Amino acid sequence: MQVLNNFSLQQYNTFGIDVSSRYFATFSDERTLQEILEYRNQLPVDANAATLILGGGSNILFTKNYDGLVLKNEMKGIAVVKEDEEYVYVKAGAGENWHQFVLYCIAQNWAGLENLSLIPGCVGASPIQNIGAYGVEIKDVFDSLDAFHLQDKKMIHFTADDCAFGYRESVFKKQCKHQFAICSVQYRLRKRPLFNTSYGAIEQELEKMGVHELSVKAVSDAVIRIRSSKLPDPKVIGNAGSFFKNPEVPSVIYDKLKQQYPSIAGYTLPNGNVKLAAGWLIEHSGPKPGVSWKGYRIGNSGCHEKQALVLVNLGGAEGNEIYDLSESIIASVHEKFGVLLEREVNIL
Ligand code: FAD
Ligand code: EPU
Repeated sequence: MQVLNNFSLQQYNTFGIDVSSRYFATFSDERTLQEILEYRNQLPVDANAATLILGGGSNILFTKNYDGLVLKNEMKGIAVVKEDEEYVYVKAGAGENWHQFVLYCIAQNWAGLENLSLIPGCVGASPIQNIGAYGVEIKDVFDSLDAFHLQDKKMIHFTADDCAFGYRESVFKKQCKHQFAICSVQYRLRKRPLFNTSYGAIEQELEKMGVHELSVKAVSDAVIRIRSSKLPDPKVIGNAGSFFKNPEVPSVIYDKLKQQYPSIAGYTLPNGNVKLAAGWLIEHSGPKPGVSWKGYRIGNSGCHEKQALVLVNLGGAEGNEIYDLSESIIASVHEKFGVLLEREVNIL
C-alpha cells in the first residue's frame, strides 16, 4: 500500500483538467482497500471525510483540487460464474477497462453488450449512471454487483432492484453517493443474441458496411464506426461525453415546442412524456441571437462542433471555465425553450 501526497490527476480525468488530489492511492484487492481505509483514519479530519473512488475519470469534471483521498480502483479479473441454456453470467473486476471487457465478451460470442461498445471508463462505473447507448442500458444485462462500504468496511451484494436504475441514474448517484467502492459487477449475457438495431443509425451503418447477416461483432463494429464519426476522442480533445442529460417533458409542452420549432428532435417514452434531444436544444440556442453554441469557443472551453451536447477542453482549460460554459448553456436553453437541462457529468 502506498499513499501519495499532492498527486496530479491530469492523466486521470478525460477532460484533462490540471488538478491534484491531497492524497492518492490505488488498490487491486479488498485487503489493500481495507488497509488504505485504516490508514485514512490517521489523516486530518477533513481529508479523512472526503474519499473519491476513481475509475477512468471519463464522467467527472474537476473544478478544484481534491482536498481528500482519491482511490483508483484497479481490481481486475473476468470469470464465468454460472451458465444455463440461455445465459452466461460473467463477473468482471471493477477496474477492468469497459471497452476491453465488451470486446472480450464479443470474442466469446456472448451477446448483450455490443451496443455499448467504445464507452470510455471502467466496469465499476457502468452501474453508477446505468450507462447507455444505442437503445441499450446496463440495466438490460445487469445481474448483480458487490460493493465495499467505505465506513462500515463490509462487502454488500446489490441486485438490480437494489440499484434502482433509471435513465443515467442509480442509487449510487443518490442515497448511496460516495459511500461504496464497487468491486465487481456480474452481467447476464445471452448465448443466442437478441439484436437491438432499433436505433436507426445502426441499420444504416450495417448497410454501409455491407453486412447481410447480423452478428454481435458486426453490431459492435457499426456502433464503433458511428461513435468515432461524431464523438471526440478524449486522447485528442478533452471531454466527458454528453455533458447534460436529454430532458423529459410532458407531451403538451413538446406539442407547443414542435409547433414553434418543427425540426425539434424528440421521441415519445412509454409513460407518454417526450425525451428531447438536448443536443438539438443547445445547437438551436447560443450566446447571442443568430449564434449557435455548437462549435462555439469561450477561452479554452467550447462546445464540440459535431455534437453540441459534448463540452470540450480545447487546451489548458480550467474546470471552472467548462462549468461556467455549462451554466451559460443551461440559462440560454431555458430562456429560449423553457426547458431546464440537468448535468450528466459529476462535478467535483
Ligand atoms: P469515473 O469518471 O472515474 O467516475 C464516475 C463516477 O462514478 C464518480 O462519481 C466516481 O466516484 C464513481 N465511480 C467510478 N468507479 C467507481 C467504483 N468502482 N465504485 C464506486 N464509485 C465509482 N456514458 C454513457 O452512459 N453512454 C455513452 O454513450 C457515453 N459515451 C461517452 C463518450 C465519451 C467520449 C466520454 C468521454 C464519455 C462517455 N460516457 C458515456 C460517460 C462515461 O464514459 C461513463 O459514465 C463511464 O461509465 C464512466 O466510467 P469511469 O470509470 O470513467 O468513471
Ligand atoms: N442533435 C442535434 N445537434 C447536435 C447533436 C444532436 O440536433 O449537435 C440531435 C439530432 O437530431 C440527433 C439527436 O439529437 O438525431 C440525438 O443525437 P445522438 O444520436 O448523437 O444522441 P444524443 O441524444 O445526443 C445520447 C446519449 C449518448 C449516447 C447516444 C447514442 C445522453 C445524454 N446521451 O446522445 O451518451 O452515446 O445517445 O445512444 O443520453 C453520454 O452519456 O456521455 C453519451 C455520449
